[in-house]
Amino acid sequence: GALAMDATKVHDHWSSRLGFIIAAVGSAVGLGNIWKFPYMVGQSGGAAFVLVYLGCIALIGLPIIIAEWLIGRRGQKNPVNTMAELAKKNGRGRGWMLVGAGGTLAAFLILSFYSVIGGWALSYLAEAGAGSFSGIGKDAAAALFSGLLASPARLLAWHSVFMLLTVGVVAMGVSGGLERATKLLMPALGVILLGMVGYGMTTGSFGAAVDYLFTPDWSKLDSTVVLAALGHAFFTLSLGMGVMIAYGSYLGQDINLVRAAGTVAVADTTIALCAGLAIFPIVFANGLDPASGPGLVFVTLPLAFGKIAGGLVLGVLFFALLIFAALTSSISLLEPVVELLEERTPMGRVASTVVAGVATWALGVAALLSFNAWSEVLIFGQNIFDLLDKLTSKFLLPACGLGAIVFVAWFLDREGVRQDLGLGRAGFSVWNVLARYVAPAGVIAVFWHSL
Ligand code: PHE
Ligand code: NA
Repeated sequence: GALAMDATKVHDHWSSRLGFIIAAVGSAVGLGNIWKFPYMVGQSGGAAFVLVYLGCIALIGLPIIIAEWLIGRRGQKNPVNTMAELAKKNGRGRGWMLVGAGGTLAAFLILSFYSVIGGWALSYLAEAGAGSFSGIGKDAAAALFSGLLASPARLLAWHSVFMLLTVGVVAMGVSGGLERATKLLMPALGVILLGMVGYGMTTGSFGAAVDYLFTPDWSKLDSTVVLAALGHAFFTLSLGMGVMIAYGSYLGQDINLVRAAGTVAVADTTIALCAGLAIFPIVFANGLDPASGPGLVFVTLPLAFGKIAGGLVLGVLFFALLIFAALTSSISLLEPVVELLEERTPMGRVASTVVAGVATWALGVAALLSFNAWSEVLIFGQNIFDLLDKLTSKFLLPACGLGAIVFVAWFLDREGVRQDLGLGRAGFSVWNVLARYVAPAGVIAVFWHSL
């Protein structure tokens, strides 16, 4: 039938447990940690946001990442077929397939604009290397960024380069492409980031940054902050997009999902906090505004790199780091779409990757034009870029993440799930409370608010 697969195709697997963990960390750690997290902290008033965010990761993010892997590992196929087959096996309706389909659609939509931002990072790497930041002032730094956004040709060129890199890696397969690239890029990212935190310690404003991140002013806490933290916890762990279901589908039985989820969540959180500890000392030492929004990394940092000793090298390293982080996430966003095409059409790995890449690239072109030529094109009052962002983060992600956790917690055989998770009685009770009540209630709260 429609769900039949070509039996001659061999489903690839991660080469080792470590390979899987590194790839999953690579997916989680991305623009969300280094670009988005610091500016969200700045906009939401600092430590109060950070502490709520940490709670959301632990209570909601962890159960959902475990649920998505469990689903993927049981299904061993693309998210759509996996959900359809698991639902059937457990006597549930075909409607559950929508969890996989919605997630895969979300991955496709997100990648289209994620690649545009990846392109900004590439462009800034070139600017940093060319010395464009040296001695730059506030207005010139702002003009550099708005100049990039105003130029369809430059945005298009860098977006295309970023998509080409993504397609190149994914075409090489799961173990030979995704896993190998991440193993190379993640350690480099760690070293550069630690170097930048070390640099932050020498600026004299490190204490101020630590205070800003960890000493909460609870009067800043309101429902907007809580919901922003919850939404970001989702995005940062790559949840609700079929990505973790797809990554789980390449897993064997020998891995402890609970421990792996802990590792990924701790790594992702540590890197976000390190990004804060790298960026805010520079911001404070130079009297910049921490609440300046999405431009924080692209406008304020060049200003600092232009002033300080060793700023050229630091600037190059920083934007290289941002690109590495973005690339190990973008390959994971392309994967569910490629897996779907590969398993449900006669196309092989390479052809599937090229088709998915071209389609994503084309949608990305529409997204980048919304900063210039098409800025007047509004759908539901939003330009295309914002529409893609809002449609996914406010609707598709919460819906699919909720579907995954509810399916595992309420609709699968309980003893089987306990064994899949390798939990004893006590551990399983904790899991049940989190997975059945706490996590779904949290997601519904975000959903409610955004509608
Ligand atoms: N988690 C990534 C980040 O923080 C973004 C991402 C979302 C990657 C969904 C893959 C899937 O940037
Ligand atoms: Na992340």
